[in-house]
Amino acid sequence: MFKINENYLKLPGSYLFSTIGRKVEAYMEAHPDQSVIRLGIGDVTQPLAPAIIDALHLAVDEMAEAETFHGYAPDLGYEFLRRAMAEGDYQARGCEITADEVFISDGAKCDSGNIQEIFGTDNKIAVCDPVYPVYVDTNVMAGRAGTYDPAADTWSDVIYMPCTAKNNFVPELPKETPDLLYLCFPNNPTGSAITKAQLQEWVDYANKVGAVIIYDAAYEAYISEPGIPHTIYECEGARTCAIELRSFSKNAGFTGVRLGATIIPKDLKCGEITLHTLWARRHGTKYNGAPYIVQKAGEAVYSQAGKAQLAEQIAYYMKNARTIYQGLKDAGYQVSGGMNAPYIWLKTPGQMTSWEFFDFLLEHAQIVGTPGSGFGPSGEGYFRLTAFGSYENTVAAMERIRQI
Ligand code: MLT
Repeated sequence: MFKINENYLKLPGSYLFSTIGRKVEAYMEAHPDQSVIRLGIGDVTQPLAPAIIDALHLAVDEMAEAETFHGYAPDLGYEFLRRAMAEGDYQARGCEITADEVFISDGAKCDSGNIQEIFGTDNKIAVCDPVYPVYVDTNVMAGRAGTYDPAADTWSDVIYMPCTAKNNFVPELPKETPDLLYLCFPNNPTGSAITKAQLQEWVDYANKVGAVIIYDAAYEAYISEPGIPHTIYECEGARTCAIELRSFSKNAGFTGVRLGATIIPKDLKCGEITLHTLWARRHGTKYNGAPYIVQKAGEAVYSQAGKAQLAEQIAYYMKNARTIYQGLKDAGYQVSGGMNAPYIWLKTPGQMTSWEFFDFLLEHAQIVGTPGSGFGPSGEGYFRLTAFGSYENTVAAMERIRQI
């Protein structure tokens, strides 16, 4: 008789955004006349930039001719995209990352969930609290998280690093030593940012204790202030302790196109074994590469026209972020984030729990947000709104909030 992976049974409920999706569908079915504004999941709403559309069209035409047709992509990614990323995201910032240290994939969500596979199951993970749920859930599935305590909403073998108003939503070094450290900056969900000096402390710490930092840089394009690192490789010593995850979803609107990358420097080793070799082996075995058409679209992100158009797109979303931030402040809410990230983090009013506020906002203003407690125990009493809606909906949402 076959057996299942019982670690899956330990997972409480369903994936956060699936639960929210179902609640919203139920509400809409019961109230078909109401117009719901979705500021929950961080899904983009603006069309792909013209330079990207042009690249997609060209690539589609290439696929129509035998001479220019492309079959399986190289499993680690096309050289043209790996080079564009190494040059555009790293070398241009003075970081020593080469094209063969870039692994192309179909998105950072998959990579952030899959990367734990190359580590032993007895590694101890540390996560920010609140945190993007994929990091924890995938470690639960792998049997690395221990047992779940429903009262505390914590896992016995996970080190939680609280990110609260007191520490400006930037964690302190953990008391217990982890093997794997997940960091995401600019942060999802709190919208906070880390300075280069602060990140350097984490890099020094990881090198000292022999831990690996899994650094999710999905939101780096939203950084607007100086002194905030766009990549962990701006820090000295990061090549020996850090893996970086990159996404095209938020900087180029690829949530429905799917493209991402994982950077593993060849200096990152466990004894004599490079993590680069392990990830290459995994990629080769389990993955057949992101589509040629999509990788050509990704290359266009680094073209002059692409860069200019995407800067405008990001400015559009950041205008939404300012609108939400100010709108909430004016309505008397305690707010943070929204300055270097497309997320605004607010304290729920009047001691409401995060889910109570979710229901309240949906019921009274027909606005969907994300309950902070869905991201971990320190998210309780908080709520996340995303700047990825249309400007018109964002303004309308703030008007509705002012009126409740
Ligand atoms: C979020 O809303 O937290 C993100 O959009 C989810 C994701 O990127 O997978």
